[in-house]
Amino acid sequence: MSTAGVSGEDRQDFTTRENKAIRSRSIALLRVLVRPHRARFGWTAIMVVASTAAQVAGPLLIAWGIDIGLPAAVDDGNFAPILTIVVAFLATGISAAGFLAAYTRWSIAISQDMLGALRRRIFEHTQRLSLEFHERYTSGRIIARQTSDIDTLGELLSGGLSNLVAGLLFLVFTAVALVSIDPPSGVALAIALVPIVAVTWWFSNASRREFRASRIFSTRLIIQFVESMAGIRAVKAFRREPADRETYAAKVEDYREATRRTIHVFGIYDPALKVIGTLTVAAVLLFGSFRVIDGTLEVGALLAVVLYTRRFFGPIEDLAMFYNSFQSASSALEKISGFLEERPSVVEPANPQPFEASRGDIVATDVSFAYSAGKPVLPQFSLSIAGGQTVALVGATGAGKSTLAKLIARFYDPTDGVITLDGRVLSTIGDVDFRRAVTLVTQEAYLFTGSIADNIRLGKTDATDDEVMAAARAVGAHDFITALPDGYDTDVNKRGSRISAGQRQLVSFCRAFIANPRVLILDEATASLDIPSERLIQSALQKLLADRTAIIIAHRLSTVAIADRVLVMDHGVIIEDGPTAELLKGSGRFATLHRAWRNSLA
Ligand SMILES: Nc1ncnc2c1ncn2[C@@H]1O[C@H](COP(=O)(O)OP(=O)(O)OP(=O)(O)O)[C@@H](O)[C@H]1O
Ligand SMILES: [Mg+2]
Repeated sequence: MSTAGVSGEDRQDFTTRENKAIRSRSIALLRVLVRPHRARFGWTAIMVVASTAAQVAGPLLIAWGIDIGLPAAVDDGNFAPILTIVVAFLATGISAAGFLAAYTRWSIAISQDMLGALRRRIFEHTQRLSLEFHERYTSGRIIARQTSDIDTLGELLSGGLSNLVAGLLFLVFTAVALVSIDPPSGVALAIALVPIVAVTWWFSNASRREFRASRIFSTRLIIQFVESMAGIRAVKAFRREPADRETYAAKVEDYREATRRTIHVFGIYDPALKVIGTLTVAAVLLFGSFRVIDGTLEVGALLAVVLYTRRFFGPIEDLAMFYNSFQSASSALEKISGFLEERPSVVEPANPQPFEASRGDIVATDVSFAYSAGKPVLPQFSLSIAGGQTVALVGATGAGKSTLAKLIARFYDPTDGVITLDGRVLSTIGDVDFRRAVTLVTQEAYLFTGSIADNIRLGKTDATDDEVMAAARAVGAHDFITALPDGYDTDVNKRGSRISAGQRQLVSFCRAFIANPRVLILDEATASLDIPSERLIQSALQKLLADRTAIIIAHRLSTVAIADRVLVMDHGVIIEDGPTAELLKGSGRFATLHRAWRNSLA
């Protein structure tokens, strides 16, 4: 079943063991992502080291130029040392730039490859998960996994990581160079480290807090936006705009304020670092100048020491920032790895025997079902539908009709008991064979971007144009399709050629017709059709259903007329079951319902 409990976002109160599990699954995911790029990682690391070393060599070469090259040229007229040093300075400077360009490109290429792989993985996983997952996990959250979480991770991978390594190396190399030229200046730097560590510690805590808040507010902003736009019809119908506008404005304000505070933290940290840097450089300069006057320090060495001290402060902010992006990225990784750990609740058997439906007999034995434990929607029932039968399933709203349909179409597995098709337990049939045998058509009738013909071909990808047209004729959709601007090639999502809800249902009928399954389940599939279209469909349906097992769920009882048998459901229990004509003659629930319905038409 699912592992929603440790998916890492609905709760904060994880136990130590859960935290460990979350960390190890994040690391495992990272390993899988890194593995194909190990060699390139190694080369990138070598280039980072080379570039940093070359950068740090600069001030040292300047010191040599002044202390060794200059005297040789001035006193002895020997220009060889200064020229050599200038050439070396140019060479290290240019190669530092070259290595920098190379490792920047490489690290971006590696990280984009990793992110691409991760995106595909998330998408494939989303597809693999069962309907149960999609009815539970909101689409807003899936969108967040695929967008902001991936982006956060991308920021760390493409910039942060190589910056971290380069920054740390730079600090170490600079400190080593400084101490080797002039140990007393190293002491000054060591003293400066005390306030640096203090403000950096403050900064990383404060910025982490503010960044986290601003991320939370930005997610809330996205969620409300998505929800408000997804429900735009209801928003307009019930004049919810002012209320929505107000709550949205409040969220914008929260986000603005959080971002302002984040920037404020930088506004304190950056100047503080600058002040510490200036004081340190001033101290090194003053102290060094006295020693130059004493003759214990060369002028060039003083210049190098001052340059090193100044540059030492450069990467510190990057490092503090890295800590932040590392925090966000690891929480994104936790969420993504949690999502990837979700397991489909309806699992395809490992090595299924091939299956081809023959008669289309459906038998449910002692089946019970609950969406969530302890709340049975369908208490125990048994049911047998002979192949070729057309069964109407009727009952009040919430009776469990759609649930029964989803069980037979194996979008869910029964909590208890088994359902078989032609004697084979549904869970032992491979997905491809099963989907070929059983089709569920719902009221939703979703159309994908593309032409009408493409949408009909969803039922049979290799259908010819003639087959598509024959299907449309059979369900009575041909006339409306040919009346569209481009006929069968009309783009369903293009402005001006949008088609109505009823027309969409006709298209989804075409799909089912062309798919030609042994078992066809229609769940409110005719609800949006007008009476003439429905009549048309009915004659088509009769043809369509003649040689297959069919279950029709409909509130409109006219649809029921073509059924051989009626099942009446109430609170998850089948309370009447019999041939349509017989039930109509009796005085049961169905007869009462049908009489009331007839009277309403008269
Ligand atoms: N995904 C779900 N998670 C939890 N409970 C659900 C889910 N889908 C349906 N239910 C519950 O199961 C019960 C039966 O719902 P079902 O959709 O099967 O009814 P129905 O007979 O098809 O109703 P209608 O005529 O309105 O379509 C309802 O109480 C409903 O709240
Ligand atoms: Mg329903």
